Amino acid sequence: MNDGKEVPVMIASRKGFYYELKAGKRYLWCRCGRSKQQPFCDGSHAGTSFLPIPYKAERDEEVIFCGCKHTGTAPFCDGAHSNLPDGYRDDDPHSLENRRVALVAASADPTIKLDGQCYVFSTARAALARRGVMGYTPVISPAMGALYQSQFYAKVGRGASPVISADGRHTVLFIAAGDGEIEISGRRFAVGPLTGVYIRPSEAYRMHAESPLTVFISNGPGSEDLVWLEHMPAAFEEAHPQRCAVIDPSQRQKMAERYYQLLVNREHSSTVVTQFIGTIPLSKAEPHRHLYEEALIFLNGAGVVWAEKTKTAVGPGDVLFLPRKQLHSVQCTTPGGFDVVGVIYPGDNPAVNY
Ligand code: FES
Repeated sequence: MNDGKEVPVMIASRKGFYYELKAGKRYLWCRCGRSKQQPFCDGSHAGTSFLPIPYKAERDEEVIFCGCKHTGTAPFCDGAHSNLPDGYRDDDPHSLENRRVALVAASADPTIKLDGQCYVFSTARAALARRGVMGYTPVISPAMGALYQSQFYAKVGRGASPVISADGRHTVLFIAAGDGEIEISGRRFAVGPLTGVYIRPSEAYRMHAESPLTVFISNGPGSEDLVWLEHMPAAFEEAHPQRCAVIDPSQRQKMAERYYQLLVNREHSSTVVTQFIGTIPLSKAEPHRHLYEEALIFLNGAGVVWAEKTKTAVGPGDVLFLPRKQLHSVQCTTPGGFDVVGVIYPGDNPAVNY
């Protein structure tokens, strides 16, 4: 963001600045990076050709102002700091401080509770309730502490699942295994492993399994259970025909040594929920926070998730629930790295953190 001016911007902070804006108030974001009152201008740009960027808050809101001054969405963070030299720091899992973090061991209960209402849910240890050819269990729900989303883990045997109403909620599926079709209000879409699917709030859906399907069903606002229908309503929203998202290496975005690709996102007209798939190398991220609520599904490999003074081991089929603003870190312990799928509500950019 130098703009070819005579002096470069200065990196005020490698991370964004969390701030609570007040409706109607005007803020002057420091663009030059020289202010001593970050993230706001204190006049230190005098003598440069930079000017502060004003922002008037329309409503009370929580934001992350850019601290590195390299954002493409000024004045707010877009995650650009992660790709600056030394921008995305790893954390030493063997540091003195980290050695004091308690390991929470798995038990017969599928839920492992960590600090700050954060938890890991093991789908392998969960009992599934039966509904026709489908077995399912809640993984994330309002009763389990979520404010924005629910998630259900389902296994669908050959044949058709019952019809499920979106019930006024944005619904996102992730097909972890199996082949078949997802029928959305009468319209069918072929799906296979690693496919994301978006279902609009007014619609209903069912899964047709040609080989057994393993599916993670996310919805928001969250619900305690799925809502079943006797018949499939023919109410597919024709104005939004694009519903499936598949792996496309050309869509990969770099975040330091990590990669992610958006699956269900605004291109599917999904405006409040975003689904992504990411690759994490052998490393432990520096602890950080997000403004969105997140569910992270571990697809393969092995790792450790850290939340404040607790940590626990994770593997394939585990799901990490992270409340908004929860300090956390994900460590991959597999030499070749591992893959995760994230669902964030509300949010559209998994790279934004502070
Ligand atoms: S001090 Fe940086 S733009 Fe004013």
